[in-house]
Amino acid sequence: MNEVNDRITTELTAQMPEDWNVPSSLRESMNYSLMAGGKRLRPLLVIAACEAGGGSREAALPVACAVEMVHTYSLVHDDLPAMDNDDYRRGKLTNHKVYGEAGAILAGDALLTHAFYSVVQASRKHGIPAERVISIVEDLAEYAGPRGMVGGQVADMEGEQGLTSLEQLEYIHLHKTSDLIMFSLIAGGRVAGVTDAQLDALRTYGHHIGLAFQIQDDILDLIGDEAKLGKKTQSDVKQQKVTYPYFIGLEASVQEVARLTAEAKAVIAEGGFANSQRLLEIADYLMSRDH
Ligand code: IPE
Ligand code: IPE
Ligand code: MG
Ligand code: MG
Ligand code: MG
Repeated sequence: MNEVNDRITTELTAQMPEDWNVPSSLRESMNYSLMAGGKRLRPLLVIAACEAGGGSREAALPVACAVEMVHTYSLVHDDLPAMDNDDYRRGKLTNHKVYGEAGAILAGDALLTHAFYSVVQASRKHGIPAERVISIVEDLAEYAGPRGMVGGQVADMEGEQGLTSLEQLEYIHLHKTSDLIMFSLIAGGRVAGVTDAQLDALRTYGHHIGLAFQIQDDILDLIGDEAKLGKKTQSDVKQQKVTYPYFIGLEASVQEVARLTAEAKAVIAEGGFANSQRLLEIADYLMSRDH
């Protein structure tokens, strides 16, 4: 994980061509959030899925960077006063606290747009067949857009304690969080050129660990350590969000994370991958994560 984290951080620095005439304040605000030091889980999943299918890590890097840009934009916007109104992220002041609201909105817009430029480099720089890259672009638009993450964020904003059902909360979590995780896995598989059955296995694995990941995020918002998380706890309580612990309690939420993790691992173990060890290890790591 450390190795991939370092590699992605270096690669992200080189993603914007130096000869592009970009306002320096925009470069700065994009980099402020990109380089703040996230876990880089989604890039790790792109690479692990690609390597599980026998693909090369190098060729997976442009897509790995792209998903981190989309994820980072989603956090910059998620923290805005009009959304979760949070002051700390990745151990630093949130983007809008440093660059103002307009600066943060535009840094997010730029990160989202530049992600698509980065995906295309898989073909330009690494010779991944254009047909596969088209599918990755199409998936990214689907999983990050209105039917994916943005749809989930809208449902999250509309959610209300006392009105929203557990079933609706599942929709929120699956879209605001699982969709980008599913995208990462499928895209890694596409770079490697895995079979349709293996793409299905990666999708199901992503669906389960993605839901587990957001339930764990809800748990950590309640009982996590702010210093380790790099963001304030009790944000959901303050915003009166619906969460898994709100509906089923802490203990049952922890059990649900374990159940989803076991199901995810079973699907991968039976997927016929050349090397599935990393994907299995990542599922276990996520279950016990404290940040
Ligand atoms: C936080 O994601 C937002 C959620 C979707 C739960 P991460 O926990 O992956 O955040 P970073 O990238 O490590 O900062
Ligand atoms: C964030 O969910 C999901 C996205 C940014 C798409 P949360 O609002 O729970 O994430 P944190 O807790 O602020 O990291
Ligand atoms: Mg939110
Ligand atoms: Mg939030
Ligand atoms: Mg949260």
